Amino acid sequence: MTADTIALRNCTELEEFRACVGLQKEVWGFADNELVPLRIFSLAPRVGGQVIGAWEGETLVGFAFSIPGIRNGHSYLHSHMLAVKEAYRNSGLGRRIKLFQREDAIAHGYELLEWTFDPLEIKNAYLNLERLGAIARRYNLNQYGITSSPLQGFLPTDRLVAEWWLTSRRVETLLSSGKLPGFVKDVSVDVPAEIYAWKQQPDTRQKAAEVQSRNRQVFLSAFARGLACLGYERDASGNGRFLLGRWDEEWSYASK
Ligand SMILES: CC(C)(COP(=O)(O)OP(=O)(O)OC[C@H]1O[C@@H](n2cnc3c(N)ncnc32)[C@H](O)[C@@H]1OP(=O)(O)O)[C@@H](O)C(=O)NCCC(=O)NCCS
Repeated sequence: MTADTIALRNCTELEEFRACVGLQKEVWGFADNELVPLRIFSLAPRVGGQVIGAWEGETLVGFAFSIPGIRNGHSYLHSHMLAVKEAYRNSGLGRRIKLFQREDAIAHGYELLEWTFDPLEIKNAYLNLERLGAIARRYNLNQYGITSSPLQGFLPTDRLVAEWWLTSRRVETLLSSGKLPGFVKDVSVDVPAEIYAWKQQPDTRQKAAEVQSRNRQVFLSAFARGLACLGYERDASGNGRFLLGRWDEEWSYASK
């Protein structure tokens, strides 16, 4: 598999949506009653959302799914899922799908794409903050309740909200130079590499829960002080670290 054997396109046909439901089930392992159903995939693009598929020949190997949202009179996109088939991961496909999603969103007049992510997922945090240039400054407590997905380790589904301001200086600088604009680090939040293993085993799950509740308090108090997650470091052992500081751009749809 090489990157150029994979074609990205907006999905429009029922068979394409059906493939997305199948890949969703494969990637998350959700019970049937927790899956986003075919009918919603088929509806989303008709009402301003996105279903973007990555295809190798006839096989769907990744997809992104978004629905439109509105906040204080501004339309934006909420990206609910990004999935890459396991054998195709870590070769840049996830990032490529997000960049396609960004172009498509800009073409439809959107300035903002948001999604939520689990702050215990080191890889996702790195991709979102460092490789895409999203920021995070909101924290949702147990957003979906405890789900049936083993990926989520039966912990409360706390989520950071990623805000991807599509034409911000931060994003455009990253995409043109490969580097994020600098900032002054005020607070950092650590995630140990062992978190994935801890979440998976019943006898170590408590350790993962402790990291989650300790980090939750740090995020909530930093965000209350107006700080945002602006960077993410990984060390050679795979540990992750959020870097928080003040964002010097004005983009926001929040009510004051
Ligand atoms: C999240 C996901 C879509 C990413 O897809 P992907 O094709 O592997 O992503 P990419 O290869 O574009 O980028 C991942 C980045 O993380 C890095 N990475 C890989 N493994 C990592 C790890 N264990 N820890 C930290 N970073 C890691 C990669 O090196 C890459 O960075 P780089 O571009 O600097 O090399 C995919 O892993 C997936 O489907 N996960 C399960 C579903 C999920 O969690 N979806 C997101 C929430 S909705």
